[in-house]
Amino acid sequence: MIEIAKKKVNSANVIFSTGDITKGWIYSDESADLVTCNLVLEHIEELSFIFSEASRVLMKGGQLFISELHQFRQYKGGKANFQIDKNIIEIEAFLHHISDFFNIGKNHNFILENFQEWWHEQDKNKPPRLVSFLFIKY
Ligand SMILES: C[S@@+](CC[C@H](N)C(=O)[O-])C[C@H]1O[C@@H](n2cnc3c(N)ncnc32)[C@H](O)[C@@H]1O
Repeated sequence: MIEIAKKKVNSANVIFSTGDITKGWIYSDESADLVTCNLVLEHIEELSFIFSEASRVLMKGGQLFISELHQFRQYKGGKANFQIDKNIIEIEAFLHHISDFFNIGKNHNFILENFQEWWHEQDKNKPPRLVSFLFIKY
């Protein structure tokens, strides 16, 4: 994915790095204006550390954007998976309620600026597929 991203983005101010986000992040305090996590946090057991590091590296007024598989899907057993040949492999996942994101964010100097639920066009009258949160660090 990083190789694909590198082909799409070549601005001089963009640096690609990889790491385990459950360990201390390599970025300096108040060095970023955006932290974005897409379909990652369901694989992380302890959200407080992630919000704590995001709060540390973001400038005041910086944005934390999170999108996740919607909890309604998770309550029904939905999990991220991939397929090798005909075998479906599920990835370890942890359930975080919508209120967990809100309350943990509040504990780390974030206010929730926007909250959205996303339906695929094939999902009429079904639970939403994704949920997203836009937090602002105050
Ligand atoms: C379902 S994929 C989503 C990938 C991509 N963000 C996207 O939206 O298409 C889950 C991603 O979470 C990443 N991930 C899981 N645990 C992680 C951790 N502790 N630190 C960093 N990344 C992690 C995996 O490497 C994987 O790329």
